[in-house]
Parts: sequence; structure tokens; C-alpha cells
Amino acid sequence: MRTETPPLIRLEDYRPSDFLIDRVDLDIRLDPHATRVTATLALRPNPAGEPGAALHLDGDDLALVALDLDGEPLAPEAYAASPARLTLHAPPRRPFVLRVATQVDPTANTKLMGLYRTEGVYCTQCEADGFRRITYFLDRPDVMAVYTTRIEAARDEAPVLLGNGNPVEAGPVGADRHYALWHDPHPKPAYLFAIVGGRLGKVETTFTTMEGRTVACAVYVEPGKEARAAYALDAVVRSMAWDETAFGRAYDLDVFSVVAVSAFNMGAMENKGLNIFNDKYVLASPETATDADYAAIEAIIAHEYFHNWSGNRVTCRDWFQLCLKEGLTVFRDQEFSSDMRSRPVHRIAEVRGLRARQFPEDAGPLRHPVRPTAYAEINNFYTATVYDKGAEIVRMLRTLIGAPAFRVGMDRYFADNDGRAATVEDFLAAFAAVTGRDLAQFARWYERPGTPRLTARMTYDAAAARCTLRLSQSLPGAGGPLVIPVALGLVGEAGPLTGAACPALSDGVAVLDRAETELVFEGVTERPVPSLLRDFSAPVRLDLDLTDAERLRLLARDADPFNRWQAAQDVALRLILDPDAARATAFGAALKAFLDGEALRDPAFAALVLALPSEGEAADALPAEVDPDAIHRARWDLRAALGRQLRGRLERIDAALAPEAGAPYSPDAAAAGRRSLRNAALDLIAAGDPEAGAARAAERLAEATNMTDRLAALGTLSLIPGAAREAALDAFAARYADEPLVLDKWFALQATIPEPGTLERIARLQRHPAFAMTNPNRVRALVGSFAFGNPTQFARADGAGFALVGDTVAALDSANPQVAARLLTAFGSWRRLEKSRAAKAAEILNRIKAIPGLSRDVADILGRTLEGG
Ligand code: TRP
Ligand code: ZN
Repeated sequence: MRTETPPLIRLEDYRPSDFLIDRVDLDIRLDPHATRVTATLALRPNPAGEPGAALHLDGDDLALVALDLDGEPLAPEAYAASPARLTLHAPPRRPFVLRVATQVDPTANTKLMGLYRTEGVYCTQCEADGFRRITYFLDRPDVMAVYTTRIEAARDEAPVLLGNGNPVEAGPVGADRHYALWHDPHPKPAYLFAIVGGRLGKVETTFTTMEGRTVACAVYVEPGKEARAAYALDAVVRSMAWDETAFGRAYDLDVFSVVAVSAFNMGAMENKGLNIFNDKYVLASPETATDADYAAIEAIIAHEYFHNWSGNRVTCRDWFQLCLKEGLTVFRDQEFSSDMRSRPVHRIAEVRGLRARQFPEDAGPLRHPVRPTAYAEINNFYTATVYDKGAEIVRMLRTLIGAPAFRVGMDRYFADNDGRAATVEDFLAAFAAVTGRDLAQFARWYERPGTPRLTARMTYDAAAARCTLRLSQSLPGAGGPLVIPVALGLVGEAGPLTGAACPALSDGVAVLDRAETELVFEGVTERPVPSLLRDFSAPVRLDLDLTDAERLRLLARDADPFNRWQAAQDVALRLILDPDAARATAFGAALKAFLDGEALRDPAFAALVLALPSEGEAADALPAEVDPDAIHRARWDLRAALGRQLRGRLERIDAALAPEAGAPYSPDAAAAGRRSLRNAALDLIAAGDPEAGAARAAERLAEATNMTDRLAALGTLSLIPGAAREAALDAFAARYADEPLVLDKWFALQATIPEPGTLERIARLQRHPAFAMTNPNRVRALVGSFAFGNPTQFARADGAGFALVGDTVAALDSANPQVAARLLTAFGSWRRLEKSRAAKAAEILNRIKAIPGLSRDVADILGRTLEGG
């Protein structure tokens, strides 16, 4: 076996475990370098497994200290132990108790999987397969057990000791140690196990569930930062209330805790009753967090909380079913945020994210079905496809069957699968049962990789007052047509044509479940513009040949806010790909009219309309031979032209939205919307007139009373080379020298400056005292922002951008393969680049490939990136 092609695990090879574990008793003695873990496992042969099979427990880097079976030590020939596995050759064919002691070093754990320490705090991360780095176990989600955990530690080192479930007892052990006992009555897979020990401050409140249970809710943070945890705690309470009203789901323990830690591989983790978070998604104050940070905190708190039902009470049978919990939970957190904020504005944000991350993934070598059929390293499948396309599938299902039936189906799903490890089939079966529909064809969405293309062509017969829409779908690969819900309407000169009738539409939605179909509208009294895929009713690429004027009619007149925004985006995208001064001026005129009519009525929406499609989106729209510099220049020129043309309007917006002196900051959606439009106006003014823009941005920087406005002004200034920019960057760093999360914004901003000098700047910043390769947030802020957010410099023609990222991947791989592999996915679109750049990317990828001893994580991404077309 060659190390560079790790073996694949396949869905078709799934079979039930030969053994089950009913109860787990853990005794964990925390120590910085020698933590003792004694696990007492109540095992029994699985009736669904192979009779008489050997018992293989998973391990990862483990050292066995002691082992006995039903209280008796095992003879050496009865078992075999290695760091990766503990085997009992002939285990009893009846229930038995195995006691396994291991010793681990949490301080040396740089992978941040299993038990580790960050800033002196002990914490765990077990999804997907970190529990096997703590003790030998059947580490698979269909093995569910009831856990009792005793944690012991030195009192001064870890005054706070937290586990899953409910606290049972606590007390001293000798003079300076103490313990806490936790019991979780809900059977769970090992990936939901967690403990925390450390010096932590907390904010707390209680929530009474609709079932009458009083829940102690707490958010734990670094002592002294308690005030910054208030918003997260409030989001916990709002999430609990919302899941009761929106889904009828109540919380099921007496305690719900969130702990913020500094070094964390991802955003957060839904461990039962003890969610552990990257502190970036907990800590917020007006001085240190932006509106976007507040929104992300709210969404991620909700996401992890919602997992309590979609993921924990109903978990996954195997990791191929990951979308069962992740796609569904993203859908649920999106609905929550839409209810807390502006639904249309949030929908636009969701789709922007999908197009920025999922569409390119689905078009490149890392593409995979929402439910993959094989993997080498499961940690590489926590992807935009599984999460975000997974959520779109749930949304389509709701659109197809209607919201009331969807709710009934969800109730059915939870009822039928509570306490079980389920599959995508189980999910769909619940909806088939309550609606009587056959969802077999719909299920293709889980199986087919790639983004379908939806093509629409309209003909209009004025004499017959009839309009015909021909819809067709295409997606390379075998498997037949998908079921595509297409929300649509017709828009006349004065607005939607309400008199037009089409029998194939139900609630404004047509269902395209064949390769093509024709929709006939009668009573169409003028030539309409079709408004298709309203609210982005399906994750497809729409091919609709409208003129700019027709699109701008949609911007002005459509009833669907999403498509109004989409129309402006489409016009702008075409102007980036194919610049034309006259058409740009017409676009500017339409934007003027739009701003005059309603900029101040819905500032958040107006800000989105003013935001041009990203350079990444423009690259994604090209067939091949992408030249990031050309895209950058075209987009830059369009911004400048619009900035000049709209200058008067932008000035007026700027003045109208100036905050009142002394007004307190509030992170609510309305206030955030006003800030976003005012900052968008500033940015466009600066694009059109850099000199005036620099002065104005410097002024705004001085006046700013919150991080949103301060960072926006700094961002505007960061695009204008000169002494003012450097002075402002230095002042910002000095002001926030002791705030790592704020310095991350400073790292990120500089890493995305689209200038050749950025490379040198990053090299300098890598030596900055606040930068650390051991903290994933720092690496993502500096190198991740560069790789994913600076297309002209990452894909520099000389290859130096690729080399910088490649060197970071190589340097990080042995310490933290998960974060290294994630960073490496930035090369996913390399084949679509113009040839000389693609050659440079290949050179760097092959250079990494030559490094001996690459992790499975990096080897897997590398292999697929180089091999896939
Ligand atoms: N299940 C987590 C979520 O989506 C994410 C997660 C998966 C994770 N694997 C992880 C977080 C590893 C941290 C580290 O909410
Ligand atoms: Zn999740």
C-alpha cells in the first residue's frame, strides 16, 4: 500500500458492530502530561453482528496501562494492544465488563482532537473519531451508551469540572484535588462525549422548557471576559424558545453549558449538554466584535443547540450519513436566523455563501455527493456540500410538500428515530409516510454530485395572450433527472402579472422532474419578464437569456426580494466578465432609481444590492482559463465607475445614516443594516475617488464607536496604498495588542490586500508576536484569508502565493493535520486557472506530495486535488 493513497471506507461495506456497549463509566484524573483514564465498559455481543467474532476496539496514539475482564486480569495471549487497536481474540459470548486504563498527554496534543489543553484549559473534541485518542472504544456512531464520568483535578488548576449530562456530586480529594461526577441518561455515540476542566468565569440564567423543566444555562469563558459572553447566553435562551415553537423540541437535561476555548479546529461542537466553542463564536462586545460576528455567534449557538435533537437524540448510523445531522441542522439554524433577522436578507446571505463555497467545490476535484459513498478521512467531509447543499435539500423538500406537511414529517422523523442512529432513508421515510409521496426520485439529490443547470426559454404570443416557458435540466453523469422545485412568476412593466394563470403551478411553484417541461400561461396581456427560481428555490445554476433591461425590470418591479437582488447581481456579473461603459452607465442609472426609492426603507437589502459579485463568483462563471488579475481589474473598474456615477446618492446615504452622537450600539438587524449600507456607501465613494475616500475613511476611523464601523473604515483604507493606510494599521494593532480575536481581523485584512507587496507583508506578520501556528484561528486569519480571499495574490503568476500556502500546509501537517488539510483545499480550483498559473499550482502540489510521512488528511486532499479533473 502506498502511503499517498490512503485506503477507502465504503458505504456499501457498512455492517453492524459485532459488539454493543450499554454503559460507560469513566474515571479521568486530569494531569498536564499524564492524565489517567479508566474506562469501565459494559459490553455484549450484538445480535445483529457476527457470532463469535473477536473484539476490536479502536485506538489512536494510545498507551495501555491496565486491562481486566469481569474483574480478572487478562492473560497476555488473550489480547493484543497497539496504539491504534486493542483486540480481545476470544471475548465472552455473553455480556461482560471490560476495564481499560490508558494514559494520555493533553499538553502534547497539538492535533486538538481527543483530550487537549489550550491556554491552560483542559477540553476534548471527539467528533468524528477523537474519543479513540482518550480510551480504546467502539468508536462508531451506531454504538450508543449511557455515560457516567468522574473527573478529578488539582483544584487550583481546574476549579471548574464539567461533563455531559447532569451533575451528580462533587467534593474534595485530599488537600488540593477535587472531583465532579456527571451522569448523562441519554444514550449517545462516543463522538458526543466531552469534558472540560479549568479556570473559567461564567454567566448564567435559567430557562423553563414547555415541559416545565428548569434548565441552568451557562456560558463559560476566560475569567474577566464574562461581559463578552452575554450575547451568546441570550442566543442560547432564544434558541431554546425557538426550537419549541418552530419544531416542538424541548431541551432534555437540567444543565446546558457552552464553553469557549481559544484553540479549536472548527467553529463549535454539539457534545451532549456541554457544547464546546471556538471562542471566536462566543466572545463579543461592541468594541471587539462586528455585526457579522454577532450574527455568526447567534447562528452557531443555535446550530449547536439544535443538534440536541437533530444529531444527538437522533444521531447518524455511520459517517456517510453526516448530512442527516449537518444539513438538517444548518437548515434549522438558517430558519432561526431568518426569524430573528430579515428573512430575505438572510436568504441572500445563505445563497452568497453557497455560491462562494459549495458551487466551486461541486465543480472541482473535491466534488462529492451530499451523501458520499467512500472516504479515506472523514474529517475531510465536513464540507460546504454536506452542510450547505445538505440544507438546501431539506429546504427543497419543504417547498415541495409545503410547510405544514414538512412540520408533521419532522415530528414523525423525531418520533420514529428518537434514541436511534438513523440514515438518510429513515429521514425521507418519515416524509413519505406523512404525505403518501414516493420520494425515491427526490433522493437523487443526495447521490448526484455537481450543480445542475436549469435552462429556461420564454416565448410570448401577444395575439393569444399566451406565454410559454420551456424549462430543462442537465447534470453530467448517470442517474436520471432530479426533482427541481422552481418558484416563479411573470413580471410586467408595472409589476407582477397577477392575472396570468398556469395550471402547472401550485403556490407559485412548478416542479421540474423530467429532463424538460413546458409551462403555459394564459391571460398574459403584455410581454412579461419571467422571474425564475424565486427565493433560490433550488441549488442550481440558472441559464435564462434576459437583456439587461429585462433584468433591471426585475430589480425595480419583482415581488420577490431575492430575485430583485439576483437581477442586479446578474447585470453586474456580466459587466465584470464583459465590460461595457454604456451598459455600466445604464446599470448605474437603475441603481440610482433603486436607491432613491428605497435605500433607507431597507438599508440591509440596499447594501446587498450595491455589493458586486465577488471575484470568486466571476471566476466560477467562466468555463476555464481563469485570469484572476483580469477579473480583479474589471470588477475594480466597475466599482470605480459606479462610485463616481452614484456619488451624490452615496453622500446622501452617508449623511442620512450617520449615527446620533452618544447613541448606544445595538447588534440588532435593523441597526446592523444601517451600518452596512453606510459602510457600503463609504466603500463605493472611495472606489470612485480614492483620495477623497482615504480622507473620509480616516475620519470615520477616528469617529468610530464600535468595531463594525472601525473595521469597515480600515477595510476601505486598506485598499488605498499610502502612508495613511500604514499609520491606521499600526494604530489599530497598538490599540488591540492584547486582543487576539481582534488582531485576527487585522491579520485577515492585510492578508487580503490585492497587491504584490502582500506576500512580504504576510511574511512579516508571521513573525508578529501575536501570530502562532499552534492556534488555528491565527493560521486561518493570516494564511487562510490569503488563500481563500485574495485571488490575485494567491494565484500570482510567479507561483509565490501558492508557495506561501503550500509551505504553511507542510509546516502545519504533523502538528495539526485537520487544519492543514482544510487550508490545502484552497487549491481546489487550480485546474481552471490560466495555464501558466495552473502549472505553478501543480508544481507546489507535487512539492507537498514529495514530503515523507504526510498525514492521511493532507494526503487525501492532495490525492484528490491532483487526480480529479
Ligand atoms: N459537528 C460540529 C458542528 O457542525 C462540527 C465538527 C465536526 C467539529 N468535527 C469537528 C468541530 C472537529 C471541531 C472539531 O457543529
Ligand atoms: Zn453541525
